[in-house]
Amino acid sequence: MDQLAVTVKGLEKKYGNFKAVSNMNLDISAGEFFGLLGPNGAGKTTSIHMMSTLVKPTSGTVNIFGLDVIKNSVNVRSKIGLVFQESALDRQLSVLENLRFAGLLHNLSFNLIKKRTNFLLDLFNLSEKKNVAVGTLSGGQRRVLDIARGVMHEPKLLFLDEPTIGLDLPTRRNIWRYIHQLRSQTGMTVLLTTHYLEEAETCDRVAFLKKGNLVLTGNPKKLVKKLAREILEIESTNPKIILDNLKSFLGPALQEFETLFFKINNNDELDLTRLINELKQNFGSELKRVIVRQPNLNDVFLWVNFK
Ligand SMILES: Nc1ncnc2c1ncn2[C@@H]1O[C@H](COP(=O)(O)OP(=O)(O)OP(=O)(O)O)[C@@H](O)[C@H]1O
Ligand SMILES: [Mg+2]
Repeated sequence: MDQLAVTVKGLEKKYGNFKAVSNMNLDISAGEFFGLLGPNGAGKTTSIHMMSTLVKPTSGTVNIFGLDVIKNSVNVRSKIGLVFQESALDRQLSVLENLRFAGLLHNLSFNLIKKRTNFLLDLFNLSEKKNVAVGTLSGGQRRVLDIARGVMHEPKLLFLDEPTIGLDLPTRRNIWRYIHQLRSQTGMTVLLTTHYLEEAETCDRVAFLKKGNLVLTGNPKKLVKKLAREILEIESTNPKIILDNLKSFLGPALQEFETLFFKINNNDELDLTRLINELKQNFGSELKRVIVRQPNLNDVFLWVNFK
């Protein structure tokens, strides 16, 4: 049987009368790469703060490798690594001191601290900066150091809250390569939040949060496949007329400015080529662009939040 890294039951967080997270139930297997997705304010950070002992739930429970986060917070903390939206670094201390401090907090031996700091500084191109104060690093360098700090003790479970924001592409790739290397070497579980859906596409499973509620969970490829066979995108100077004409054949559409997105499903007995030709005949002057394309996780995200 799979060992569970995270078990969430009936988890809620209220701030006054406002529910930031409502009745969340979720299991994450050991070794899984899991993505928590949702728009700004959906409750992602609040959820992972509760899972990582930093915020007390209003009700419900979280177990990390079988340990309750409230009753066994010290033990839980020894198993997890945290990379949060807000930096956990001490800006007065140097790069090296910050990593050493993280190693000491996790009771690593001096030898191991030395080995890990050298390895991580080299891997993340920070060796030249090791003696400078963190306050003088660039934003991206600080982010990378935050990640290095989070993995100093090779945690069994790593929480990554929008870890790669503001990082250039080679740096992002380097970080992901190392995280996946750690996963395969140590079986580390990863819980990621991100607004980059190309990152989320590589997850084993993703869950969508909407206003504090988990509304959809599954393998990203399967969710995309389930959404639609194809997406019909129509850009026009008069989207309302186009929508009024097509919705009885194609169902509702998402609209972004002048572009409509329709889902085309497998079971539609629909001659799409004919429909597009008729559209061009009737609304030729209003049409700016018509394309049919494969759906992606971004479409799933948009439709989840449309309903
Ligand atoms: N300490 C707090 N006091 C009051 N409200 C809070 C507090 N922390 C979070 N909230 C509210 O809870 C909701 C969820 O916030 P949260 O930070 O979990 O969102 P998020 O999904 O991480 O968003 P983002 O993508 O912007 O990081 C928001 O409406 C936020 O204003
Ligand atoms: Mg957040």
